[in-house]
Amino acid sequence: MTDVSGLSIGILGGTGDQGKGLARRFALAGLSVVIGSRNAERAQEVAGSIGAGATGAANADVAGGCDIVIVAVPYEGHKALLESLTAELSGKIVVDCVNPLGFDKQGAYALPVEEGSAAQQAAAVLPDSRVVAAFHHVSAVVLMDPAVEKVDLDVLVLGDDREATDTVRALADVIPGVRGIYGGRLRNAHQVEALTANIISVNRRYKAHAGLRVTDI
Ligand SMILES: NC(=O)c1ccc[n+]([C@@H]2O[C@H](COP(=O)([O-])OP(=O)(O)OC[C@H]3O[C@@H](n4cnc5c(N)ncnc54)[C@H](OP(=O)(O)O)[C@@H]3O)[C@@H](O)[C@H]2O)c1
Repeated sequence: MTDVSGLSIGILGGTGDQGKGLARRFALAGLSVVIGSRNAERAQEVAGSIGAGATGAANADVAGGCDIVIVAVPYEGHKALLESLTAELSGKIVVDCVNPLGFDKQGAYALPVEEGSAAQQAAAVLPDSRVVAAFHHVSAVVLMDPAVEKVDLDVLVLGDDREATDTVRALADVIPGVRGIYGGRLRNAHQVEALTANIISVNRRYKAHAGLRVTDI
């Protein structure tokens, strides 16, 4: 298994629920974590609130300075943010967890994405980066809950670069209870992103924070 213990993890939009939750779990696992934000001060404040050694910086510094960069911004801001960071993200493993979803009276639904998925949009904008899709179905509430010692779910990891998906699988594995499972090429990211709408429906009906498990592995 790939060793990620020496790698630094940056999170673009790490001031939001998802970024904070992932940052907290990675920092607790002993990894070097940098929260990113459009506002460096906000990033530092949020990093301080997480503790466990997490630090904060402007998104561009996070993108340029970290080994693995997670994109945790709303879909609306996804393309423009990545377009502004192509140089900083060149050669990096970029982990996209963005779910392009709309919400109406019937609940959540998948939005059409011209490139096929948010992850493919990232790959189109960042041809010199190693884009991997992962962490779409992880509940931020669960990640932040100090009462949850083990997070009971698998993380589907998709991408076209075997070494990069192995690295991100190992990153998922550092969260107690979680397994990173290879889930296919990047062209299959759409249904993984879209499945989040179904999970949100499950959560609403059963008042839960549901996760997925892959059996027989
Ligand atoms: N929440 C979950 O449980 C969850 C689970 C799985 C996946 N996701 C995915 O993770 C992503 C983040 O979710 P979230 O709930 O953490 O979202 P969020 O709180 O709404 O946003 C995260 C951060 O993104 C930055 N941001 C907001 N609008 C932006 C824009 N137009 N351009 C650049 N940055 C912007 C903000 O940071 P600054 O203002 O500090 O820059 C914000 O704190 C989403 O794409 C979501 O689909 C979320």
